[in-house]
Amino acid sequence: MTNQEFRQYAHELVDWMADYLQEVERYPVRPSVVPGDILGRLPLHPPAAGEPFAAIFVDFRNTIVPGMTHWQHPSFFGYFPANNSTPSILAEMLTATMGAQCMSWATSPAATELEERMMQWLGEMTGLPPQFTGVIQDTASTSTLCAILTAREHRTSYRVNAEGFPPGGRFAVYASTETHSSVERAVKIAGLGAASLRKLPVDERFAMVPEELESAITRDIAQGFDPLCAVATIGTTGSTAIDPLRRIGEICRRHGIWLHVDAAYAGTALLLPEQRWMIDGIELADSFVFNPHKWMFTNFDCSAYFVKDAGLLVRTFEILPEYLKTPERDGVHNYRDWGIQLGRRFRALKLWFVIRSFGVDGLREKIRNHLAFAQSFARNVAQEPDFELLAPVPLAAVCFRYHPVGTDDAATLDTMNSAILEELNRSGRMFITHTRLNGRFALRFVASQTSVTQQHVDAAWDLIRTMARLKATTGPA
Ligand SMILES: Cc1ncc(COP(=O)(O)O)c(C=O)c1O
Repeated sequence: MTNQEFRQYAHELVDWMADYLQEVERYPVRPSVVPGDILGRLPLHPPAAGEPFAAIFVDFRNTIVPGMTHWQHPSFFGYFPANNSTPSILAEMLTATMGAQCMSWATSPAATELEERMMQWLGEMTGLPPQFTGVIQDTASTSTLCAILTAREHRTSYRVNAEGFPPGGRFAVYASTETHSSVERAVKIAGLGAASLRKLPVDERFAMVPEELESAITRDIAQGFDPLCAVATIGTTGSTAIDPLRRIGEICRRHGIWLHVDAAYAGTALLLPEQRWMIDGIELADSFVFNPHKWMFTNFDCSAYFVKDAGLLVRTFEILPEYLKTPERDGVHNYRDWGIQLGRRFRALKLWFVIRSFGVDGLREKIRNHLAFAQSFARNVAQEPDFELLAPVPLAAVCFRYHPVGTDDAATLDTMNSAILEELNRSGRMFITHTRLNGRFALRFVASQTSVTQQHVDAAWDLIRTMARLKATTGPA
């Protein structure tokens, strides 16, 4: 491709991108494809000769786009969002164009120093204590793994890194039953064994019960286990429950346990001073993660990982083969030593573009709107006799179900709501997902998409009500 052709295609692609964002609502949120549909349309073998870009772009539009779930559709209410925004997309174009590998200061001085400043900005924007230092990781899963590995090394005086596990060493890690599955995965990868994870019971608001943490630790100590780390969640994946951080932190402090805080989704809400109650006690934590790639309009991937003592993190991951030695070792950040991967993308640029384009006030306004949309949706649910809320709504996720008066059989309600979910998503007009709370199948509606408006939320509620009534009269499909 000549530079002239690149210029021409880039212009064409930008036109397509702008049209896509403007017209994304014309697509069904979830495509009507079945497994294998797309695979069947892709050649079995790679082309021997290069193909014209025009042909590749036609296939993208005809084969790939119709097979995508459209996460940027304003009626995408599933999971937690993976929001992008136009400034973020523009930054990614530049990142891809420069193609820099940001493993150390020397390989990308501006990227390194921009990352350092962006993490300071994010710390200030979310109200973290100033002693926390940040680094961008790919995902919250990786950030949590870094936390558990650092806790392990710190506890064993870096001996597991050096010699492997000592014979008979039995660690314990604490989290609630509502904790994200990435914690269990991290415990497994860290070599602690899934059995070392204590999944503590939650209260009626689905938050960790500090007394349960205290007694589990006491029990473990009595049985010869070494309590290593606790993970508190601010905004659980199921229902956005908020674990009581201060009380958990006090217990961890008393027992010398590493406290990691997972605020993957909810961290963005900390931009609002009125939401900072959620991290009361954060000064007792050792590490904290939140994902701008979920709610903060910064496209995937971008996870902000903060630690109180960066020295412990670096000591856990530092490695220095000859070819990575550069004169600028002291006084600069070499982020390759702040996590697992060596090679790193230039992710700070999109944060810079997003924060400067929206401004902190602009970001706050959007987040406040999302919280208000969720409250309006929850009010609708609460006021409708045939529906019920299944969890409190502290953020922008609403867990609820259809529960027609007189139908109380648990299995029938589960089947009915599961059928409603499938019918809604099959319609292509909106997309929601589900969770299970106290054993009940719950519909889960998250109003945090970049371009969602009150009209989308109201339209979704109308559709849900209509579908539910229809299902109640026609029965499961
Ligand atoms: C509370 C919580 N923690 C961690 C994660 C994992 O995030 P990531 O995909 O960035 O690893 C999620 C994902 O939804 C989450 O809800």
